[in-house]
Amino acid sequence: MNEISIENLAETTRNDFPLLVNKDSSTTPFIYFDYAATSQKPYQVLKALDNYYSNENANVHRGAHQLSARATQSFERARDITARFVDASSSNEIVFTRNATEAINLVAHSWGDFLISEGDEILLTVMEHHSNLVPWQLLAKRTGCLLRYIGLTPSGELDISDFCSKLNQRTKLVSLVHVSNTLGCCNPIAEVVNIAHKSGALVLVDGCQSLAHRKVSVKELDIDFLVGSSHKLCGPTGIGFLWSREEILDQIPPFLGGGEMIKEVFLDKSTWSDLPHKFEAGTPAIGEAIAMGEALNYLDNLGWERIQGWERQLTRHLFQALNSIKGLRVLGPSPDQQLDRGILASFTIDNIHSNDIASLLDASGICIRSGHHCCQPLHRHYGLNSTARASLSFTSTIEEIDNFYEELISIVNFLNQHN
Ligand code: ALA
Repeated sequence: MNEISIENLAETTRNDFPLLVNKDSSTTPFIYFDYAATSQKPYQVLKALDNYYSNENANVHRGAHQLSARATQSFERARDITARFVDASSSNEIVFTRNATEAINLVAHSWGDFLISEGDEILLTVMEHHSNLVPWQLLAKRTGCLLRYIGLTPSGELDISDFCSKLNQRTKLVSLVHVSNTLGCCNPIAEVVNIAHKSGALVLVDGCQSLAHRKVSVKELDIDFLVGSSHKLCGPTGIGFLWSREEILDQIPPFLGGGEMIKEVFLDKSTWSDLPHKFEAGTPAIGEAIAMGEALNYLDNLGWERIQGWERQLTRHLFQALNSIKGLRVLGPSPDQQLDRGILASFTIDNIHSNDIASLLDASGICIRSGHHCCQPLHRHYGLNSTARASLSFTSTIEEIDNFYEELISIVNFLNQHN
């Protein structure tokens, strides 16, 4: 049998990321394993941001002058890139927001307040990030709708039979994460959509932890809403997006009011701009949107097979290392249980607090996250209040995992001796 050779994508890409190659050890971590919190940025993205502010800075859709026309062109090009990135039918389906959280709030307000009433149900999962819980709790307070939660299998994956038992004719929306930022599991979105649609419910997918790691096609998944955050996708902070079908966005009222989202304003009423501007009140994050477009092109140009091939190899190596540590337990499915799982591992170690692990690793220049990762209900489900989480990307290396492992082992030995 032919060995399939996996390309070491870190070798190809690492030099694109200034923070990863900066040799100043007083400012640069030795190892950055906190990509699920935010990604590092390639110089192509930094250059795009700099170019906008240096050469194109003007407001969009407003000025009669050429500079504004140029800024508008670059800004709308970023929308076209985002539409292509998620395989949308039209750029009108992309609404720029501050981040994924704001995109979910937009749906909860514009869609939820308009179409949800008392007695309706919204189905969430216990693994959701707070950003996909709190907006619905607020909607439930406003409308009297009921929130229900899909549980987990023993391996830490979505329990499809629990989903089927909780879905009913009153369910109007199923809102769930694609890849969990804590369990790392990849949810079977196409299967969820197929079942939900048969029952008349729409499906919202939080793509924050999936969009930088695999191709996400809204057409193939047949979903109704997708949200994403640029800073998780090699882009800048302050910009994200909502994708939905035009017929849905057309039907629902605006989220925020102000300049840019109106057609005509009278003293007693206003009319709205066409899509997508109806949902974009005020001056947007122009340079950030343009730079996000560069980030999405960067990922697309690398190619998803290359990204997934290397990331699967790294994930296996990470799990092998962690599983060899006595008393260490990783939440969520292993790569053997779910080949497609995310490139992250949240773990606990017997008798050691995750904050101690993270602080001692930090002292050796290794960045990981500890805490509840904005998933308090999920941690409560496991009887935990905190886990340590290492999250990687295609720029990560086998050597980094080995170094992280060595440091972790010596921390565990040190703490066990002193406990
Ligand atoms: N949602 C981000 C994380 O998981 C902030 O760390």
